[in-house]
Amino acid sequence: MPVAQRIEEIRNELSEVARAVPTAQELMQTMAKLLHERMLKYNWVGFYLLEPGAQPPMLVLGAFEGAMTPHTRIPLNQGICGAAASSGQTVVVDDVSKDPRYLACSLETRSEIVVPVFVHGTVVGELDIDSHFPAAFTPEHQDLVQHCAMLVGKKLETSGR
Ligand code: SME
Repeated sequence: MPVAQRIEEIRNELSEVARAVPTAQELMQTMAKLLHERMLKYNWVGFYLLEPGAQPPMLVLGAFEGAMTPHTRIPLNQGICGAAASSGQTVVVDDVSKDPRYLACSLETRSEIVVPVFVHGTVVGELDIDSHFPAAFTPEHQDLVQHCAMLVGKKLETSGR
């Protein structure tokens, strides 16, 4: 199946899941599992959520699929994850070996995307995806991952954590 068609299918399926599940937690779990299983180059898929009230702010690992990561808590001044959460911008890294911010999760990881999740305009967490393939996150993939992060933000707005 061409990648554009696969992306379209998954996008529609996840929009449906977002309507059907009762909680944001279930949405994040289902989303991580589906993206990991069906997008062949998405080798690690997980959410980090900002710890409520933590000073300094801290990203804490939530639902994920793939190998366990040593990075279960990430301050905002560290990693690609910290960069995305503190800037509120999507960060795409085509070659993690060339980015000094990168915190290694798996030695096989070659590229990464991190998309912030917003609730009423404020960053509350992010969706992080690692690939064993260089430059895996082309613009059509960025669109899909941003759609996913938007669905989670909207669900958090209506159903809370
Ligand atoms: N690579 C991330 C750390 C999280 S692991 O990839 C799961 C980073 O540089 O922030």
